Amino acid sequence: MTMKRALIAVVGVGLLVALVAVVIAWQPELDKVDAGRVTDADQSEIARGYDLAQLGNCESCHTAADGEPYAGGRAMATPFGTIYSVNITPDSETGIGTWSLEAFARSMREGVDREGGYLYPAFPYTHFTKMSDADIAAVHAYLRSIPAVRHEAPENDLPFPFNIRLLMAGWNLLFLDEGPLDPVDGQGEDWNHGRYLVESVAHCGACHTPRNAVGAEQSDAALAGAEIDGWYAPALAGDGARGWSAPQLATYLTTGFSRAHGAAAGPMGETVGNLSKVPPKDIAAIATYVASLTDDDAGPIAVVDNGVPDDLAPTHALWVGACAGCHEPAAGSGPGDTNPSYGIALSTGYAVHSPRPLNAVRTIVDGVDHYRDMGGPYMPAFGGSLTADQIADVTRYVRARFSDAGAWSDVDDTVQTALGQKREGDGQ
Ligand code: HEC
Ligand code: HEC
Ligand code: HEC
Repeated sequence: MTMKRALIAVVGVGLLVALVAVVIAWQPELDKVDAGRVTDADQSEIARGYDLAQLGNCESCHTAADGEPYAGGRAMATPFGTIYSVNITPDSETGIGTWSLEAFARSMREGVDREGGYLYPAFPYTHFTKMSDADIAAVHAYLRSIPAVRHEAPENDLPFPFNIRLLMAGWNLLFLDEGPLDPVDGQGEDWNHGRYLVESVAHCGACHTPRNAVGAEQSDAALAGAEIDGWYAPALAGDGARGWSAPQLATYLTTGFSRAHGAAAGPMGETVGNLSKVPPKDIAAIATYVASLTDDDAGPIAVVDNGVPDDLAPTHALWVGACAGCHEPAAGSGPGDTNPSYGIALSTGYAVHSPRPLNAVRTIVDGVDHYRDMGGPYMPAFGGSLTADQIADVTRYVRARFSDAGAWSDVDDTVQTALGQKREGDGQ
């Protein structure tokens, strides 16, 4: 065979493979219907749909800063570029007002939109696919009961080749494990309901499970802890996980504060804001399941106070002025044993113990303010009032004073990154 013929053969085979791929990947457009305002669903289905939408953070992700609820446009930074959430209100032109239940269910189960286009997994359909038919129908009913808003989300900002949606057909083949979740025999109803919610609509793994190079969750490291938006979502299962009892978890997940563990800040604070609206039965089930993944006998973290670190003596004045009023151990009566707004024993929280300074730095930069309406923990944001050096020094101070683990090595870089990511105003 000459060189030319060999080349033609290679190109030919390549084209054939591409053609086969397109044929396999092709998804039909589903008919437009007037899904419009909900009329045929009963109120209890809509009410359950509301609960599931809270469990699924649908509103948080589908609402832009200062935008109308569910009208889309919130930017999500991914390693591949910026993806914007879209309008899922029942508007017939810019929302999903023309989507039948079949079209909606296909998007949740297969990540394909009504027109047959592939969606990106920034939309956690890899979890929603595990929902039952009845739960998907309830969310659809709820979304048809909310006000329609005319609003077009901005175009995604994804470089080539990530802007080719068809690539997701191959990605799904490799990483999408489609279909509802079967219960595990021999486990109680509560445990199974919790596992179902965690794996499906509540998509805890979307933040707590590390991802591979092409952005898929690593199935052999489920809930093993992962970095997300400049925060670290700690391990909930396996070696790195801390001991949590089910009642501690239930309190943490609905109030954002656990006496034994501290506050939920950053993305977890937003999640807690939604979970606080969910029926206690669902929360208790989630808590039962998650507690079963951790070693409950790990016991409480000992309270540590090593005193003012010698090499950080100058930082002590900053601590006294800016932090001690709420965090100086003498100001409270014990480890988190007081009003959650002051007297927190920093040594018992995750942030100061973590192998990474991410959460301590982000908490100091952004503060804790998700719970203002709930009367829960509050800490002011220091990102605008302290310099980068002061934030780094006070971070080293809390680590040296309230933890027996060694000093963090990458504090300065973490502070620079956190100042770049700091929240603009309230919410996101
Ligand atoms: C982590 C953020 C996030 C969460 C949580 C989330 N979504 Fe989305 N969703 C997105 C993004 C981003 C897209 C657009 C994906 C794309 O452009 O490929 C999307 C797309 C969709 C679409 C396709 C709409 C269209 O016009 O193509 C539907 C339907 C949808 N989401 C419903 C939901 C529901 C219901 C929930 C809650 C159960 C939910 N989403 C939770 C981020 C999210
Ligand atoms: C949007 C991302 C996100 C989602 C979704 C999410 N988490 Fe988190 N979670 C985080 C982050 C970030 C932290 C660390 C917060 C902090 O340090 O204040 C965290 C912290 C936690 C903690 C505290 C762990 C510890 O040992 O200190 C628990 C428990 C937890 N999450 C459980 C859950 C459960 C259960 C779900 C699903 C119902 C869930 N999370 C969903 C991001 C998320
Ligand atoms: C108005 C009271 C207040 C002030 C002032 C304050 N904090 Fe906080 N801080 C809190 C509350 C409430 C929490 C959440 C409860 C918790 O996590 O223990 C918190 C949480 C933290 C955490 C995370 C603890 C964890 O593991 O969850 C760190 C680290 C922290 N603060 C450091 C500081 C530093 C450093 C300063 C001074 C620059 C400061 N705080 C000033 C009230 C305050």
